[in-house]
Amino acid sequence: MARFDYRQASAIARKRRAANIAAFYKTPTWNEADLPQNLTDFALKSGYYTSDELIIIQSEADVILEKIRTKSWTALEVTQAFCKASALAQELTNCVTEVLYAEAFKRAKYLDDYLARTGRTIGPLHGLPISLKDCFITAPHPSSIGMAAYANEPLEKDTLLVTILRDLGAVFYIKTNVPTAMMMAETDNNIWGECRNPLHKHLSPGGSSGGEGALIAFKASPLGVGTDIGGSIRIPSAWSNLYGLKPSFGRYPVYGGKSGIPGQEHILAVNGPMSRSLKSLQLYSEAVLSEQVAPWELDHKLVPIPWRKNVIQPPGRKLRFGIIGIDDGLVTVHPPVERALNMTKQALEKQGHEVFTWSAAEDHPVIVKNLQAAFFDLGGAAITDLLKPWDEPIFPCMRGYALAAGAGEGDLGPTKMRMMTLKRNALQKAYLDRWNATATDGKPRMDGIICATSPWAAPRLGQTQQNLYVGWTGFVNYLDFPACTFPVTFADKALDPPRDMKTFKQLSDIDGRIQADYDADFYHGAPVALQIVGKRLEEEKVLELCEVVANALKDA
Ligand SMILES: *[C@@H]1O[C@H](CO)[C@@H](O)[C@H](O)[C@H]1NC(C)=O
Ligand SMILES: *[C@@H]1O[C@H](CO)[C@@H](O)[C@H](O)[C@H]1NC(C)=O
Ligand SMILES: *[C@@H]1O[C@H](CO)[C@@H](O)[C@H](O)[C@H]1NC(C)=O
Repeated sequence: MARFDYRQASAIARKRRAANIAAFYKTPTWNEADLPQNLTDFALKSGYYTSDELIIIQSEADVILEKIRTKSWTALEVTQAFCKASALAQELTNCVTEVLYAEAFKRAKYLDDYLARTGRTIGPLHGLPISLKDCFITAPHPSSIGMAAYANEPLEKDTLLVTILRDLGAVFYIKTNVPTAMMMAETDNNIWGECRNPLHKHLSPGGSSGGEGALIAFKASPLGVGTDIGGSIRIPSAWSNLYGLKPSFGRYPVYGGKSGIPGQEHILAVNGPMSRSLKSLQLYSEAVLSEQVAPWELDHKLVPIPWRKNVIQPPGRKLRFGIIGIDDGLVTVHPPVERALNMTKQALEKQGHEVFTWSAAEDHPVIVKNLQAAFFDLGGAAITDLLKPWDEPIFPCMRGYALAAGAGEGDLGPTKMRMMTLKRNALQKAYLDRWNATATDGKPRMDGIICATSPWAAPRLGQTQQNLYVGWTGFVNYLDFPACTFPVTFADKALDPPRDMKTFKQLSDIDGRIQADYDADFYHGAPVALQIVGKRLEEEKVLELCEVVANALKDA
């Protein structure tokens, strides 16, 4: 017998969310059949916003900060515009968990008063609304991570990053939806329900930072913070047409967040910024990793490296990119992703950069297999022990956790654990050696790897329940490399015909199933993004490389 029922927990949580929104905003409702595919576009033209609000919500972080600093806008009016937008984003996409409007208004007013009184901003993020993935604790609000066990549990202590961002001037106003235990590639759970993609309502915004992806793509947040252990920043960033930085472990403060598999350190979870603008990721990183904040004095796990600028030297030099082709040895990308790879290669070559093939077939399959096994073995008992007392059903793509728990993998034992670690370390070293070996014929080492973030442009809702594949992002977590997504194009039925399934040679069962899912008409308009991968602790370089790629794509 369950102690409590997850349905009761869900009803309490949803009632709280609805009441906290209704206290400030009455959002219009529409018949589902009357809603077009592009909800972002629909909302902007719906008459819901005033013209001033439209300008604010479509501005990027650097502009917002400048307008507040120069007193053209108040922090309060900016906060109100984004709160209002987030209320509608919730109505149309179900991207919200906790609603923090009352305290956001209070904080914004305090910041406006501070600026008026002192003539100074409180910090480099003065007045900037920042949305937070549900796992970041803003006490006393619960941090459900999509599970009944936590859904209504008030908390006492803020996550370290939350304290740091608040001190820098950020305004927190909303927390965003995640999948159960943050361990799926789409955003669905038994508490808040499923989140959909505002750029194409039949598609998923990805996961696990999927509520963030949807909110930002809806223009209801200029900048959000997500977490990534297998692709959870990059998958939603890619599927929502955003830039999303997954750093290597040890740069950005991680202490005190809620984890899906607490204590699991075989694959290191990290957090990072997501935005429509690359510049926003840069200004966020510069603020958080500044000498003034010195986060390495606050979080034991961090290396004392302040944010570095202009790391590519000499500036403007020609770069060397390795590009992974249409498959990673296990799964082949859909046609729109192939076109994005070609577009990116051609755009970079046009600027005189070198783009050569980087192979994945020899080590990615084993890396992906180990990563998946580690999640199931180390997470099985941790997750199912929390679900069971509440009678929470397991989502199809998470059955591996229940199986591992049932097989007693919760009692993995030190020997198996050590072997896992040894294997991981050997694969990491071999990959680094492979990277090092790109320095040949007097040429420098490869600067970065360009590859897909997933086989799909963005998949239809529910697709990853049957065909979960995070190998394209997960290899980066296993190697603890930094990576950043960049938008390239949208799927186009005229340009992206399906592969000929009669001649298509599948590399695995899931490869065949994923490829068979492609439908040019259905996916028309789906966002397509790729990622650029650097070496450990090269976060600055990854963002600079990303800028080179984005500019090349713009010029092409
Ligand atoms: C959806 O609408 C937004 C806002 O107008 C626009 O930026 C985006 O390109 C649209 N998506 C597609 C696929 O047309
Ligand atoms: C991408 O480029 C390769 C190699 O030039 C070519 O064979 C392939 O047809 C291209 N694919 C697309 C979708 O443009
Ligand atoms: C790394 O690359 C350098 C330069 O090509 C080479 O001399 C060295 O042997 C390589 N080291 C390893 C471990 O591969």
